[in-house]
Amino acid sequence: MSELAQQAAVLREKLNQYAHEYYVLDAPSVPDAEYDRLFRELQAIELANPQLQTPDSPTLRVGGKPLPQFSPVTHAVAMLSIRTETDVTEQGALAFDASVRKELGLAENDPPVEYAAELKFDGLAINLRYEDGVLVQAATRGDGATGEDVTQNIRTIGQIPLRLKGDAPALLEVRGEVYMRRDDFAKLNAKQIAAGEKTFVNPRNTAAGAVRQLDPAIAAQRPLSFYGYGLGDLSGWDSQPNTHAGILNALRDFGFPVCDLRAVVLGGVGLAQFHAQVAAQRDELPFDIDGVVYKVNSIAQQRQLGFRTREPRWAVAHKYPAQEALTTVEAIDIQVGRTGSLTPVARLAPVFVGGVTVTNATLHNQDEIDRKDVRVGDTVVVRRAGDVIPEVVSVVFERRPMIEQPGADLFTPTQVPQYPAYRILELYPTCPVCGSKTVREPEEARVRCTGGLFCSAQRKEALKHFAGRRMMDIEGLGDKLIEQLVDADLVKTPADLYRLNLSQLAGLERMAEKSANNLLAAIEASKSTTLSRFIFALGIRNVGEATARDLAQHFTSLDALQVATVEDLQAVNDVGPIVTQSIIEFFAEPHNREVIASLLEVGVNWPVIEAKPLDGVLVGKTLVITGTLPTLSRDEAKALIEANGGKVAGSVSKKTDFVLAGEAAGSKLDKAQSLGVAILDETALRRMLNV
Ligand code: IVH
Repeated sequence: MSELAQQAAVLREKLNQYAHEYYVLDAPSVPDAEYDRLFRELQAIELANPQLQTPDSPTLRVGGKPLPQFSPVTHAVAMLSIRTETDVTEQGALAFDASVRKELGLAENDPPVEYAAELKFDGLAINLRYEDGVLVQAATRGDGATGEDVTQNIRTIGQIPLRLKGDAPALLEVRGEVYMRRDDFAKLNAKQIAAGEKTFVNPRNTAAGAVRQLDPAIAAQRPLSFYGYGLGDLSGWDSQPNTHAGILNALRDFGFPVCDLRAVVLGGVGLAQFHAQVAAQRDELPFDIDGVVYKVNSIAQQRQLGFRTREPRWAVAHKYPAQEALTTVEAIDIQVGRTGSLTPVARLAPVFVGGVTVTNATLHNQDEIDRKDVRVGDTVVVRRAGDVIPEVVSVVFERRPMIEQPGADLFTPTQVPQYPAYRILELYPTCPVCGSKTVREPEEARVRCTGGLFCSAQRKEALKHFAGRRMMDIEGLGDKLIEQLVDADLVKTPADLYRLNLSQLAGLERMAEKSANNLLAAIEASKSTTLSRFIFALGIRNVGEATARDLAQHFTSLDALQVATVEDLQAVNDVGPIVTQSIIEFFAEPHNREVIASLLEVGVNWPVIEAKPLDGVLVGKTLVITGTLPTLSRDEAKALIEANGGKVAGSVSKKTDFVLAGEAAGSKLDKAQSLGVAILDETALRRMLNV
């Protein structure tokens, strides 16, 4: 092997190890910048020597060229489905055990059957083929006999190993589910909204859509996850475990994510217990499930049981009660939120869904109402997933109450819906709480009250946010209490909280002197906070916890943040034009500046933040890139410079420290020369950064 090939092999191994630590173990051993540096090094080698790019190279994870279509893949071992047990009670588990015992010819006093119980993930089934430990093909299930080759897309999933760890069999096919976590789904949709793009409906469809995306660059941007749950074709696996649970452990050792929420249980009772235990945790799981799956644990018993036409006799999926139900919309109310948005809420005829009685469901905004065309009187499908607010999924139009319209034609009377389409702005030209004018900005989905903190609904929400656990963390100051304080006119702004006294608090309903004292102590204690909590607590639109943290770290003082210009703000990590606009607007409002001044006056304080010294040879240096570089793309060069502490600017000025110039550099190079700015080529930059 040439020296370069060896270098590439070492880089591949390191990068694959780091990816496993980061994506599967959730315990990275090196900083992201180190991974990126090695990644670019390998990319540069492969770019110059394409023959050195192997199928397990992590550089393939970024996605290649779009495909005209997927090629069909014939599965070496058919991808079967499993029977679904529709009895959602524990009887479903007992019935499966009974059928297994019968098929195995067990008598009543024979010992219980051992089962592997696991989750039924709600995504898309995938077959991963590894030859000599290297991922060579990934295919969808298709009709079970033939699927589609989605290798390019699957390689972009960081959790899926490109090379197996340990002693790999000559051939190993691993089956599992590609899915999307709920938090990743929410983040993806937030990003879509920020970019003015359409949002996705649910994690399952989004994951399935991403895998079947012809452009792998798009698939690479979708945050997908994977869990292994079984095997396909195999050869040369000498130490193959003889239980399903053992196989899952082996998959984990090969480097696959395998879900920890699984158990080996005995008999139908053990299965029923697992079913109940998962039901209790279901809402808190980081991803959606479709039920649980029971598999006979012993591989020998699985062989003995065999298959029906398309399903194994040794496995079954056991579902949970529906999370969806039908009910009617009795009214549509409006709630005014923290930032003044008028949110329509459907008042529903009480209905039992997903284990609780639901009487309200959010309708989100006008666009959502328009899209679903929800009207008062409609029969609707409501869904309660997780502990999120119940949602109206769709209208059952066949059941819409209609009234006859005396028409021109006596023989064909026309019918129209009993209620007109619901238009927030027409029904509420003014805020239902404070009477201020309402508006809908052209680019926004929401109708908003312009009353600001004059509106008591907005004041209440702003105060609830301010006092929250992740903000100023005022213990004991709950929503109900805040509502009382605002209604009694004791508190208008957050600063007023710090001016409350014992007699005012003790005068409130259901407030004993002891709890009033505790509350005063909690308010006092909240004065000592951190800058990032304080920024978050202010409730600036579009500034969440993470952004508040970035802002605090970047500006290190509230003064600096208050006077920051658009340019200063855009220089902060992940702060785009929308967030910038919200921050500028917030501090431009005199009322907000007054509240901040009062808060500081009453003694809210935080420790001084030491400016975090960046490391890297380019700290404090500004570079401008021009022309085409021999190996690095513009983005790669930018990332390399930033990873070493430097900044990249768009135009050359006296403040520019270096111009990084490539082939066909134009006016920027001329300008640099005339200003006497130092000029680097890629080689010089690499030498400087030692890459
Ligand atoms: S085992 C022969 N285990 O459910 C057994 N399937 O009908 C093959 N699924 O679309 C499947 N979680 O993708 C198995 N823990 C799990 C599963 C699971 C989800 C999906 C699978 C397929 C369907 C099976």
